[in-house]
Amino acid sequence: MDRLLSLGMQTSVPEIFSAEDFISNPGRFAGFEPPVRLAVIGDPVAHSRSPGFHNAALRFCGIRAQYGRLHVPTERFAEVLHTLPAAGFLGANVTIPHKAAALASVDEADAYARASGSVNTIVVNGEKLMGFNTDGPGLVRAIREEFSVDLRDLRVVLLGAGGGAGRAIAVQCAMERCERLVLVNRTFEKIHLLAEELAPFFQSERLSGPAERIVAVPFDDDALRRELENADILINATSLGMKRTDPPAISPALLTANLLVYDTVYAGGTSRLLEDAAAAGARCANGLGMLLHQGALSFEIWFNRAAPLEEMRRALHSGL
Ligand SMILES: NC(=O)c1ccc[n+]([C@@H]2O[C@H](COP(=O)([O-])OP(=O)(O)OC[C@H]3O[C@@H](n4cnc5c(N)ncnc54)[C@H](OP(=O)(O)O)[C@@H]3O)[C@@H](O)[C@H]2O)c1
Repeated sequence: MDRLLSLGMQTSVPEIFSAEDFISNPGRFAGFEPPVRLAVIGDPVAHSRSPGFHNAALRFCGIRAQYGRLHVPTERFAEVLHTLPAAGFLGANVTIPHKAAALASVDEADAYARASGSVNTIVVNGEKLMGFNTDGPGLVRAIREEFSVDLRDLRVVLLGAGGGAGRAIAVQCAMERCERLVLVNRTFEKIHLLAEELAPFFQSERLSGPAERIVAVPFDDDALRRELENADILINATSLGMKRTDPPAISPALLTANLLVYDTVYAGGTSRLLEDAAAAGARCANGLGMLLHQGALSFEIWFNRAAPLEEMRRALHSGL
């Protein structure tokens, strides 16, 4: 430790870096041992579990880098992003509320990120920033792991389809050409256009069926009752459930034993929706699996190698 300090190396990394820290002294990040070369950028960001499991993965793989937290308000986001190369960063994750702004700020983005309207993973390539989104593919892996089924084989009812995560999941369902997709959102205007945009994914001779394969419906009990009767999985991508005091995302009376219920919310490990679903006899899972797999996919993009999934899972669960 003394030797590191005498070499000008800083060993203890603050829990959170501010935008000011980052922009005013980008050279500082290479001075830690190991150097800080990745971070999650958000506002708020203190709650993020990504540093815990990414640092475990970096240590496990013997990669000389560490992953921090950057608290960045909206007005400084673009500036912070364009400082990533000068700070020697390999990349970053982006979380609430910057995912849409990240798409606008990167030099290039892959097709799924563009269609989702958001970026959660950035790769620094020289002076260029490349954008990806691992939320949808992370959800696919989580559903396969939790329920031993593939999203593409399911009739999906998606709550909160007009939000950032909801849109990314809707696009993923469309790209997978899932059996049926029902978009539900409190603000209906947001999903009416989305349904039209995604309709071409569901139009094919082979796949056409008696019922429309993509529909947008209002967020009310009558519409939900009708749609859930013919659904395999209910996915909650609303922010309801993040706070313990939140009402359940839908009325408990609408939940039945033959539904799978996936709540993308993971705060607290459970939610009113999951408690009601379990009481109805439904198989259910919280968003920790999606969180883990979207992180593992980011790691794969940064390092072009398989992520140490079990090590990351252990770190995620030990931090709960
Ligand atoms: N597990 C994971 O890895 C992971 C990854 C990403 C996100 N998530 C989760 O996804 C959720 C949404 O995040 P986001 O970034 O998409 O947020 P967002 O863009 O703010 O979207 C919020 C969504 O929730 C809906 N909503 C909010 N309050 C509501 C209410 N009282 N009644 C009905 N609907 C309501 C909004 O509907 P309106 O359009 O009508 O406002 C919108 O569809 C969060 O819980 C987050 O934790 C999880």
